[in-house]
Amino acid sequence: MSGAGRVGVGVIGAGNISTQYLTNLTAFPDVEVRFVADLDLDRAEFQAQAFGVRGFGTVDELLADPEIEIVVNLTIPKVHAEVALRALEAGKHVWTEKPIALDRESGRRLLEEARARGLRVAGAPDTFLGAGIQTARRLVESGAIGAPMTALTLMQQPGPESWHPNPDFLFQEGGGPLFDVGPYYVTALIQLFGPVKRVAAVASRSKTVRTIGSGPRAGETFEVTVPTHVTTVFEFEGGQTSQSIFSFDSKIKRTLFEVTGVDGALEANDPNMFVGDLVLHTDAPEPEVIPTEGEKAARGTGVVELARAIRAGVPERASGEQAFHALDIMVSTIEAADRGEWVPVESTFTPTPPLPEDWSPAVATL
Ligand SMILES: NC(=O)c1ccc[n+]([C@@H]2O[C@H](COP(=O)([O-])OP(=O)(O)OC[C@H]3O[C@@H](n4cnc5c(N)ncnc54)[C@H](O)[C@@H]3O)[C@@H](O)[C@H]2O)c1
Repeated sequence: MSGAGRVGVGVIGAGNISTQYLTNLTAFPDVEVRFVADLDLDRAEFQAQAFGVRGFGTVDELLADPEIEIVVNLTIPKVHAEVALRALEAGKHVWTEKPIALDRESGRRLLEEARARGLRVAGAPDTFLGAGIQTARRLVESGAIGAPMTALTLMQQPGPESWHPNPDFLFQEGGGPLFDVGPYYVTALIQLFGPVKRVAAVASRSKTVRTIGSGPRAGETFEVTVPTHVTTVFEFEGGQTSQSIFSFDSKIKRTLFEVTGVDGALEANDPNMFVGDLVLHTDAPEPEVIPTEGEKAARGTGVVELARAIRAGVPERASGEQAFHALDIMVSTIEAADRGEWVPVESTFTPTPPLPEDWSPAVATL
């Protein structure tokens, strides 16, 4: 490994989301995508050629490239931890899609392995690094709503089986609205309020079987094994509380992310997006629309932030510790719903500062 200059990246998983990552990572100058790997070699080759990436093939071939410093893990949730572990064992830093693992034990193992090897394991989402949530965080920290007290969040939609060509994994262990979309909301909440102390929840499932709506498998059915409607209450270490609904059971598509403080309230953008309108409500006669300041780029932003943090020897913002805390909150949510009682969240994380307003992954810094 060179240890200086731009950072070599290898992408594992050439499926649906790899197009967004490859579009951005091949344009961001601080990283160089050197290889695309997949179990499906045709898919790896197709994506590599579509984005002008020289190397494609197996995971072993990717891991053997000494110029690859960061492995970007875009596989399905149930293999995130095993793929990330293999990358760490090969001496690579890891950026992994969410959730970082499916259970606490394998999540902890990743953090320990990274620590022992002096490597990083950072985790999606990186949407909180976008202009929307970064502006919201700067506003809240500047006192615009007074001391933040509560949050109300809503994510409801019919579910992704209509548009995703292989949606099974989104309704099985590691999926469902909580594990699939929840990480965006949970991460934005802990960015604003800090670590969660305890969780209460109820959960339900409207259908046990769903039908694929697009692609070559359209019309095929698959089993739903996780809750598809989850309602939670989080209590944070700082004393704040939040209420959230995560649902794939509603024909109404709606998202909401609002934070209320002693002196005002802020409607922020959907945390699954990098940008969106912010509306500030105070004693002023009319709510104020706040322009978002900062980076409007999309997925891959966190990989660049990680690459720069590695070179600078400072902590990355989308840390593995934060991703693990988000996982712990979600696992605790399911336990709380199963047991019908509050579940304490044992893990914590060290919050990192917001990005400078002029930070951009699209400029060359390395
Ligand atoms: N699709 C989206 O809109 C979206 C958005 C944000 C995040 N994500 C996340 O990105 C990840 C991937 O989602 P997707 O929609 O691209 O899934 P996908 O099923 O379309 O693609 C996953 C790819 O990983 C490959 N793969 C699976 N196991 C592997 C292994 N052990 N080694 C190498 N390759 C392996 C598969 O062959 C497949 O090509 C998931 O964690 C998902 O939560 C997806």
